[in-house]
Amino acid sequence: MDTILITGGAGFIGIHTSLVLLNKGYKLVIIDSLINSSYIAINRIKSTYKKTNKYPNNISFYKGDIRDISFLRKVFKDSIKLGSEINYVIHFAGLKSVSDSFLEEDKYWDVNVNGTKTLIKVMEENNCFNLIFSSSATLYSEYETSPLRENAKVNVNNPYGKTKLEVEKFLENKIKSSHPNWKIISLRYFNPIGAHSSGLFGENPNNKINNLFPLICRSITNANEELLIFGNDWPTHDGTGVRDYIHVMDLAEGHVSAVEFLNKKIIKSSFLVINLGTGKGTSVLELINIFQKVNKININYKFAERRKGDKAIIFADIRKALELLNWQPKRSIEEMCHDGWEWFLNNPFGYEK
Ligand code: NAD
Ligand code: WQD
Repeated sequence: MDTILITGGAGFIGIHTSLVLLNKGYKLVIIDSLINSSYIAINRIKSTYKKTNKYPNNISFYKGDIRDISFLRKVFKDSIKLGSEINYVIHFAGLKSVSDSFLEEDKYWDVNVNGTKTLIKVMEENNCFNLIFSSSATLYSEYETSPLRENAKVNVNNPYGKTKLEVEKFLENKIKSSHPNWKIISLRYFNPIGAHSSGLFGENPNNKINNLFPLICRSITNANEELLIFGNDWPTHDGTGVRDYIHVMDLAEGHVSAVEFLNKKIIKSSFLVINLGTGKGTSVLELINIFQKVNKININYKFAERRKGDKAIIFADIRKALELLNWQPKRSIEEMCHDGWEWFLNNPFGYEK
């Protein structure tokens, strides 16, 4: 079975993807600096697989930074020594907060852009040319209308998004100018929420959360954190912003489909951009109402000003993922609300407490 390097594999999307890949029998080498995650996630994934005794030795973990070239070289070298040469890389590692990226632009550039370039260099040194990259729907121009196809115009208004765009350009150029074996898929995620149904894995919240779903959860458990709805005057059916929320397990399965796609011998050198969303839009008020109904809980909220940089409606056209990857999401928004809340209830402070 192939060996896959998962960068940022202890993080929210990385850990769920790792779970699905292990279930499929892949061997995983996970690397993570743990800057926004915890070793507990790695311990949990290891013990989950020990219990099922399915593939207990299929997972190894290295703590380290993708910007550290000697660290990356050692990871690749060790894998060869162990007889499990790395054939694929799924590159999740990076910094992801839009608001923080305005405050720490250089750091975002260094980790997201320079970190990726270092990774690519070491992949080339090791003749590993299969890459799946975590990109974002934040790239799409605000003037484009949803459903957004992959060929819609891009126009980014935040430093985080600019780093993702820069990496996409860099990767596309690799195909044009470099080794003919490169096969790269850039997956543009929409709004991942939810968690693994065991309640053992989920999003590790840092202190400054900006995303709606974890803020809904926090507003329930922390009376001091009232939920603010940013705008009730958007040009949408109920005045609140519409987004394409996708269950993180569906997203994880999208990566397995991407690996299987790259594995097909017929696929020649290519750089592909593919959306991963559900193709359906849900408003802030709809999400809150579904959350309340599914979890039988009351959410207090009040309306506030629109948030700077927000857009009214963003949802994906997911036909390309179906057509090329034979992937489509299976889980409902009700399951997203149920599983995400279950994780939060079990782990209100994330993995650490
Ligand atoms: P996350 O923060 O939970 O996971 C990222 C992981 O990368 C963390 O475990 C972190 O410790 C690790 N990391 C950060 N910098 C590193 C470095 N220099 N070296 C090694 N490891 C490092 O984030 P996530 O939600 O799982 O996102 C994964 C990827 O998907 C990111 O690249 C993000 O930009 C992208 N993405 C996320 C979303 C989202 O809403 N969650 C949407 C679109 C795209
Ligand atoms: C969703 C909706 C808000 C918080 C961001 C990034 C994007 C991607 C996913 C990484 C919007 C509203 C929010 C709150 C609210 N991440 N909202 N009150 O902005 O669609 O996307 O995360 O790539 O790049 O930009 O997600 O969860 O912040 O907002 O009313 O306290 O909820 O206005 O309509 P967003 P979000």
